[in-house]
Amino acid sequence: MSELALFGGPRTRTEPYPAWPVWDGRDIDAVTAVIRSGRWGGYPYPGPYTAEFARRFAELQGGGYAVPMANGTVTMEVALRAAGIGWGDEVIVPAYTFQATAAAVMAAGAIPVIVDIDPETYCIDPRRVEAAITPRTRAIIPVHLGAQMADMDAIMDIARRHSLVVVEDCAHAHGARWRGQGAGTIGDFGSFSLQSSKILTTGEGGVLLCRTAEMAARAASIIDCGRPHDDAGQLFTMGANYRMTELQAALGVVGLERFPEQARQREAMADYLEESLSEVPGVRLLRRDPRHTTRSFYRYIFAIDPDVFGAGHDLVCAALEAEGIPCWVGYPPMHRYDLFQPHLSRLPVPSAFPEYFAFDRMHLPEAERACEREAVWLDESVFRAGRQGIDDVVAALRKIQAHADDLRRMERMEEKRVR
Ligand SMILES: Cc1ncc(COP(=O)(O)O)c(C=O)c1O
Repeated sequence: MSELALFGGPRTRTEPYPAWPVWDGRDIDAVTAVIRSGRWGGYPYPGPYTAEFARRFAELQGGGYAVPMANGTVTMEVALRAAGIGWGDEVIVPAYTFQATAAAVMAAGAIPVIVDIDPETYCIDPRRVEAAITPRTRAIIPVHLGAQMADMDAIMDIARRHSLVVVEDCAHAHGARWRGQGAGTIGDFGSFSLQSSKILTTGEGGVLLCRTAEMAARAASIIDCGRPHDDAGQLFTMGANYRMTELQAALGVVGLERFPEQARQREAMADYLEESLSEVPGVRLLRRDPRHTTRSFYRYIFAIDPDVFGAGHDLVCAALEAEGIPCWVGYPPMHRYDLFQPHLSRLPVPSAFPEYFAFDRMHLPEAERACEREAVWLDESVFRAGRQGIDDVVAALRKIQAHADDLRRMERMEEKRVR
């Protein structure tokens, strides 16, 4: 009989990790004030809480013009549309990210060109970006994935040389900094999700940082049914209602008060985790880039060696969960998302460009290895439970690795069952 909790043994950690989202009386007071005001929605845009949230959010990231909106997918669609990118244009996205990064490109009418990742960071590989550029390429969307940031020096260099727009997908990187500069303020746009699991949340919501006031006015017009938001009041745009509501913004303003301390805790505990994790056989830490000067993150990702653990990340994560450690295997590679399989999703493949959607013929080996065998995503809550929270992760991983033979047997049985 194995000692692993997965097979009925005792759990490494019995105490739950801290819950998310965190809230207190301030959230209740802020939401109550909105309810009493009668101004619940987002019109006229921006409402007082929305304007306050925008100001404070830009302050947190250290620059840009913030335009709060409905979620962290439309933020990217709106950024592309504000930049005049649309039908037939190509936008380069990484293979390892949530489907929204590519879906937003399609919503803007453009074509996502999926490129492979750097196996040492799991973020977009700048060499692959360069190789994917064609005369139709208009933009790059680097994603700051997990606790990493994409190599923004290399991305910006490519963008400048090829006159491309850069939209940073910062859904995982509120508060993060690269050479001291806030994520989302390096490219032309920074897109942030405020969905309920994110480290700054308004339940649902998003905020787009724009480098220029002109782009911010265009973005605000697009999300406010096309109404003008430029100083002259003359810039009407084809738009829809993607406004943030005052109820959401009130939660965002309070969330921002708590955010810096939560981010500091996570960052300190990530350092502590790395000291101990590097000694666990079969665990590979992703490369820590010294230019990534503040690590603020949503999930912490590391890689396991399936040979040393006896199984791939599916079983290792199941074993970790059973030991009381909240974790996840992460996203599938973009070209293998069910959502994007034409036969499953009824994806309306444009007949003019079938080659971009021939996902079954795409091979992106680094993303496939990371997404299908190696990556383990630890919940942010693990990093808000003090040193004991981290010690328990390390103890659970050591225990699981010491029982690699049990996992190997289990994986073989699974393989036989599937065959
Ligand atoms: C990398 C990434 N981009 C974009 C999004 C989309 O954000 P939203 O759910 O707010 O639309 C998410 C959300 O999970 C994400 O993880």
